[in-house]
Amino acid sequence: MSRQEPGPGGPLSGLPRRVRVVEVGPRDGLQNEPGRIATADKIAYVDLLSAAGFAMIEATSFVSPRAVPQLADAAEVMAGIARRPGTQYLALVPNLRGFERAVAAGVRAVAVFTSATETFARRNINATIAESLENFRPVLAGARREGFWARGYISMAFGCPFEGDVAPAAVLDVAQRLLDLGVDEVSVGDTIGVATPRGVEEVAGLLLRHIPAEQLAVHFHDTRGTALANVLLALQLGIQVVDASSGGLGGCPFAPGAAGNLATEDLLYLLRGLGIETGLDLDKVVAASRFIAEKLGHAPASKYLQACAAATTP
Ligand code: HMG
Ligand code: MG
Repeated sequence: MSRQEPGPGGPLSGLPRRVRVVEVGPRDGLQNEPGRIATADKIAYVDLLSAAGFAMIEATSFVSPRAVPQLADAAEVMAGIARRPGTQYLALVPNLRGFERAVAAGVRAVAVFTSATETFARRNINATIAESLENFRPVLAGARREGFWARGYISMAFGCPFEGDVAPAAVLDVAQRLLDLGVDEVSVGDTIGVATPRGVEEVAGLLLRHIPAEQLAVHFHDTRGTALANVLLALQLGIQVVDASSGGLGGCPFAPGAAGNLATEDLLYLLRGLGIETGLDLDKVVAASRFIAEKLGHAPASKYLQACAAATTP
């Protein structure tokens, strides 16, 4: 992907021309909702997001249904969605069992997930970081054999509720191991939304000195309102893939204090203002968020959606 001309050399020069937004609402969003959502509504939600034009939608996860009962219907969701040509439907898998379930459900792009800190790895996937990477080895070998695209997540990359500060070198180490195992892309997660642009500069800056930008994505939760500032800094550093969830749904049941992901609408409004292409239809993302918000029975966190509701958005 190319970058904008430096222009007059101001602080916004050198931004990417195009950003790929990975929509994670159906997975990261719905995994954290306390109420039960009907499978048909999940399917309709993914279909509405497909209509908005995403190249990648994280549709569900094939984890232990005891760990995340909200997504126990992963296979039914995958069977029910209308697959739009040009969209990849990504699913989280923690181990070989999850991979086999995903393959049987017709998934063709998978994401493995671990942590930069040992405590969260244990709490989230009941493994050390090293054990989790060993669990991913057969998954990623299988993905390569099947011709699947694969992503690796690193949670707690900017700070951890259990261990506090996280050394950027620890994030780099896990990222390199994931790439050695064969993931196509590493998504660096601010699971509990503690990052500020300073931390992004430290972590993403270090990663970019060792890993091509094409293999990196950022995944910010917006717990403290810093996600958009973090995205801008990440783009300035050269990152061109950003995760977001429609309406700002999201959180991790195993990370105390994790609020929703950066809202896709808020991200798209920023990117549009910066003249960055995404190929996405913002109004259709809004329609998807409104649909699922009604099913969830609570208002979305997205500022853009709130502004729409107040009819103040141009
Ligand atoms: P475990 O208990 O150590 O696993 O859990 P196990 O291998 O001992 O298996 C225990 C039981 O689970 C067995 O069933 C297995 O068959 C079953 P039993 O014999 O007792 O009836 N099982 C499975 N069932 C279905 N699908 C599977 C599967 N694996 C085992 N794949 C395990 C380990 C990893 C399975 C569990 O801890 C787990 O599922 N964790 C998932 C946690 C999760 O989904 N967290 C949220 C996603 S991560 C996130 O949100 C962060 C991210 O957004 C980035 C960021 O924000 O930082 C990605
Ligand atoms: Mg997340």
